[in-house]
Amino acid sequence: MTRVFSGIKPTGHLTLGNYLGAMRQWVAVDQHRAEALFCIVDLHALTVDHDPARVRRLSRQAATLLLAAGLDPRLCTVFVQSHVDEHARLSYLLECVATDGEMRRMIQYKEKAAREQRRGGSVRLSLLTYPVLMAADILAYGADEVPVGDDQVQHVELTRDLAVRFNQRYGHTFVVPRATRPTVAARVMNLQDPASKMGKSDDTGPGIVYLLDEPDVVRRKVMRAVTDSGRDVVYDRESRPGVANLLEILAACSGGNPEALGGVYESYGALKRDTAEAVVEVLRPVQERHKELCADPGYVEGVLRDGAERARAMARPTVDAAYRAIGLLPAD
Ligand code: TYM
Repeated sequence: MTRVFSGIKPTGHLTLGNYLGAMRQWVAVDQHRAEALFCIVDLHALTVDHDPARVRRLSRQAATLLLAAGLDPRLCTVFVQSHVDEHARLSYLLECVATDGEMRRMIQYKEKAAREQRRGGSVRLSLLTYPVLMAADILAYGADEVPVGDDQVQHVELTRDLAVRFNQRYGHTFVVPRATRPTVAARVMNLQDPASKMGKSDDTGPGIVYLLDEPDVVRRKVMRAVTDSGRDVVYDRESRPGVANLLEILAACSGGNPEALGGVYESYGALKRDTAEAVVEVLRPVQERHKELCADPGYVEGVLRDGAERARAMARPTVDAAYRAIGLLPAD
């Protein structure tokens, strides 16, 4: 059976980008057709300046939202990265296979390191090695597929390179995974700045729709979205990025196709109104279920405890095999 692994980082409140670009596929498709693991990757949240209490709170919230969105622990495994030691164990071995140059070429590293420096902070070493830990997350489980939004594809490509290199040098140990992306909304853009991704750790609140935003907040954000000069509604990512983003969001939320929807609207106002309502309707059941789950924290904790146990049992044999293959003396 195909094995699927993906993760989400608790560095901010989850956004519509996370939902449309990743979570929705996990819920609607992946958990039903594959042996699937979904991980709250809390170790990754320590790679930039962080508040310990906030990371803890966001990790719990992310787990609750994944379940609220429809991940079903009877069908898939939901767990927290730091509960399974195998991720960190394998990451070190992969650091011995990866190169410094490879890490410095990662687009997200360049962007985030530049941001930290602009803020006057220093860049944590873990930010540079982040993609190696991500590779460990994936390879520890022998995942065949990694469903992600566009921004993570380069990291999955690196994971493939590391798996192939390790296998060539030390004998076949890892499955070589591939990224899968949604057909629409693989890159949801910031509503106030359609040239940049809608990212949960950004500071531009009005351009980001959070999964827990009240309906009126969602409506306000969408109605104030930056649109392009020109008046006709056409789907063109290059010359009309603001309108194209709204059409993609609407298509993803209503099941349509962005090009076809472009022909339906005569004004930006009508497009924004329909997009806002479509987003509100997609978020409504997730928010309702989230409220119910918040009233039952024991349930979420139990899911995470069982998930970590299952994940450990799956990762252990592969990581032990990698230890032996690379030349470390077995302890027993
Ligand atoms: P993260 O937490 O930034 O995002 C989680 C998932 O949401 C997708 N995504 C988006 N998709 C479309 N439009 C957007 N604006 C948008 N913003 C986020 C991301 O592509 C991702 O699929 N490094 C990863 C977490 C990670 C991981 C892994 C993922 C760690 N280990 C192993 C897969 C496999 C990250 O920061 O995702």
